[in-house]
Formats: sequence, C-alpha cells, structure tokens
Amino acid sequence: MPMTAIVLAAGEGTRMKSRHPKVMHKLLDRPLVSWVTRAAREAGAERIVVVVGHGADEVRAHLANEKDVECVEQAERLGTGHAVRVALEGTGVASGPVVILNGDLPLIEPATVRAFAESVADGAHAASVLTMTPPDPFGYGRIELAEDGTVARIIEQKDCTSEQAASLLECNAGCYAFDGALLAAHIGEIGNDNAQGEYYLPDMVEILRGHGHATTIVHCADYREGLGANNRAQLAELTRFAQERINERLMDEGVSMLDPRTVWVGPDVTVGRDTVLLPMTMLWGETSVGEECVIGPNTRLTDCTVADHVSLEETVGVDVTIERDVTCGPRAYLRGGAHVLAGAHVGTHVEIKNSVIGEGSKVPHLSYIGDCTMGAGVNIGGGSITCNYDGVHKNRTTIGDNVFVGSDTMMVAPVTIGDGALVGASSCVTKDVPADALYLERAEARIVEGYAAKRLERLKRDEA
Ligand code: UD1
Ligand code: CA
Repeated sequence: MPMTAIVLAAGEGTRMKSRHPKVMHKLLDRPLVSWVTRAAREAGAERIVVVVGHGADEVRAHLANEKDVECVEQAERLGTGHAVRVALEGTGVASGPVVILNGDLPLIEPATVRAFAESVADGAHAASVLTMTPPDPFGYGRIELAEDGTVARIIEQKDCTSEQAASLLECNAGCYAFDGALLAAHIGEIGNDNAQGEYYLPDMVEILRGHGHATTIVHCADYREGLGANNRAQLAELTRFAQERINERLMDEGVSMLDPRTVWVGPDVTVGRDTVLLPMTMLWGETSVGEECVIGPNTRLTDCTVADHVSLEETVGVDVTIERDVTCGPRAYLRGGAHVLAGAHVGTHVEIKNSVIGEGSKVPHLSYIGDCTMGAGVNIGGGSITCNYDGVHKNRTTIGDNVFVGSDTMMVAPVTIGDGALVGASSCVTKDVPADALYLERAEARIVEGYAAKRLERLKRDEA
C-alpha cells in the first residue's frame, strides 16, 4: 500500500520554554520527531514528509541522518491545517492513503499507524482519527460524535464550552488518516475562525462530512500511545511510559532487572537472555548486549556491541566492541572504536581509546591505553600509559603477545614492544623493544643509612 506519512514538526512548543524546537527534545535518547518518523517507517510508509518551521535548521540537521525523510518548510506557522496544506503543496502528494502524525506523539506504535492507513485505503472512509481517553483530557481536542456513532467534528479545548469540556472525554490523539485525493481537494476549505485564529487540521473531519464522505475513529485501547508532549512534565511522564514499555518487553524476552525503574534502554537496543541489568544503567543508540551478561550498576553504553558472558561494572562505553568473557570496571571508560577481545580484563580507572586489547590481556588499574594494538596474554602494570599524542599527531603503540609491562611505564609512541618482552616498572619506553628482551630505564637507587633520622633531629634542633 503506497502510504504517505506527514509529520507535523514546525511548531515552537511554547510550553516547553526552550531555545530548541519542541520536537528536538529527547525522549530517552532520541528527539521526539525521530520516534514519530520511526513509527511511520516501521508502519511501512513509502514517503515520510516532515513539516519543519520553528528551529528548522536544527530539525533539518538532525533529520539529515534519516535518509528516507523529506523536509518541507512551513515558514509561517498558521496552524496544523496550514502545515498540512504546505506539505501537500510542497510534495505534490494528492492520492493514496495519507497518514498525518503530530511531531510530539512519540509513543504511537507502528501497528496502530498501519491499521489506521488501512482504515481509509479501502475507500469506505475519507478520514479516520485516532482517539483516546486519557486520565486528564485537558488541552486535547474533543471528539463530538454524530448520531451514527462516528465522529461529527473535533472541538479544540479552547473552543469548548465548559459543558463540552466536562462531557466530551474522548480526545483527538493527533494522528489522522485521509484519502489523499479528498484531503488535497478540500484542505483549502479549512478556516481560522476559532479561539486561536489558527487553521485547525481536525476541522477536516467536519468538512469532509459536509461533502457527504464517511469519517471514522479508531479508539486506542492504551491511551498512553496517544499522549502528546507539550511541556517538560508531560515529557518526563512520557519518558517513564517509554521506559516501562521497553523494559517490560525486555523482561518478557528473558532479561532481568534488579529495579526496572532505574534502567533506561533506547528503542533500538537489543539485550540477550539471562543478562542482568543493574540500577543506573543506560543503553543507548544501536547498542547490542549478548546473553548471560551483567551490566551495571552505573553503566552507560552508546552504540556498543557486547558479546556473551561479559561483566561491565560502572563502565562508560561509546562506540566499542567487547567480545565474550570480558570483565570491565568498576570505573572503566572505553571509547572511539576500542575492541576488547575475548577474556580480557579492563579494570578500575582505566581509559581505552581506539585500541585492540588482546585475548586474555589485562589492564587492571589506573591506565590510559590509546591508539594501541595489543597482543594476547599481555599484562599492563598499574599506572601505565601510552603517550600517544606528541602535540600534533596521534601515534601508535604496538605490544606483542605475552608482554609484561611493569607498573608506571610510559610508552612513548610510536613504539613497538616485541612478543614476550619484559618492561621494568617505572620505565619510559622510547625505543623499540625486541622480542623476549628486558627493557629497563631507571636511575640507580641509593641507600644512605640513618639519613632520615639525622635529618629529623636537625630540623627539630633548628626549631628550638
Ligand atoms: C493538537 C490538536 C488537538 C489534539 C492534540 C493531540 C490541532 C488544532 N489540535 O493540539 O486536537 O488533541 O494535538 O496532541 O491540531 N505544528 C506545525 N505547524 C503549525 C502548528 C503546529 O507543524 O502551524 C505542529 C507542532 O510542531 C506539533 C503538532 O503540529 O508537533 C501539534 O501542534 P500542537 O501545538 O502541539 O497542538 P496541540 O495544541 O497539542
Ligand atoms: Ca501537542
């Protein structure tokens, strides 16, 4: 079914009190507008048109990551009806099912959007509106039913009499499906004679009925799907609903959580069976976590790939790959394409950047490993650092298999330490180390018997 989705995202969102357009506010890890384009995409929309206006540059720049999205600019914001008119004129869409979604409607499910498009695709209805009965209907357009039980018109909160506001509890969720040809033919008939002086898209229902076309409503059983985010409190409430929905799904799929209220997982993350997510864990972006892992507490992973049997405690990972049986933390920071191979250990207060940590290798304490290729079975002593930056260039450190690097070693890159070599503690490695060699760079130790005691005596005498 060639359905077009139009996402209305040009409004300022005054009630957000923000420098940023409303649709750029994040729900979990992604802006509101992307939840809506995602729903449209997964529902099978052939074209996704986003109407931008307020903060258009910011919205466009963000949507540049979504290659299938076309933007149309509504330079003057004269209301949702006007936004749709601009979208139709800008894209030439004039046939087929057209689904219109408010840009602040993040929890709508793809299946709902799809069912919706189908409700007009058979030609029986000219328009269909998604409705819900939220606990607090204030602010929503209210559905006035006709004698035959279908929607007669939608009355905005600000245009309701107090009786209508009190008695009409069925609300417009801000998701519509139209027969594209009828929509294009009649969109110009929307007026702005109302409390806000705006062109209201919901008026299309009454207009189409006036032309003798059938309209219908689809009631959404779970009102949460239809909630809009108009202010920060609603955004926080929606965030909690999204969190609940995702965590319930993960638990259904075999993931454990000590306390699901303190685990936040983005919509595109996957987590394997028997993995445990501990409190204050955030999994964002395209992260995937394998089976039988323990993640957290206090762990944030963005765009990470984690294999099975991995334990990450108090770890921050950004764009890294972690193979099976790895342990990290507490307090590890991995970033920039780090690749930790099977069975390796990255310990406490350790930072790894753009490096390969070899199979079974250990970087247990207080180290920085950057731009390094490390072999298998390596041990890096506490406090050791790859000096990868000379002020201009990033340079590589290469460490062979089974190398033992003593504590507090500076490896001044570019430098290579051969297989099986031994580096004495506190060395500054500025020359390549051959395989199986010892490298030691250390001033000779001196011992002066009784010196400390004599010095103390002298200091006390001087003071008296
Ligand atoms: C709208 C509906 C209301 C419904 C509610 C559901 C209208 C007139 N009212 O009210 O019936 O119950 O959504 O959440 O449609 N926008 C534009 N251009 C404009 C104006 C708005 O693109 O000129 C966009 C906004 O960015 C937003 C969406 O349209 O994403 C809805 O606008 P908003 O101001 O949030 O409408 P509501 O007052 O919530
Ligand atoms: Ca809204």
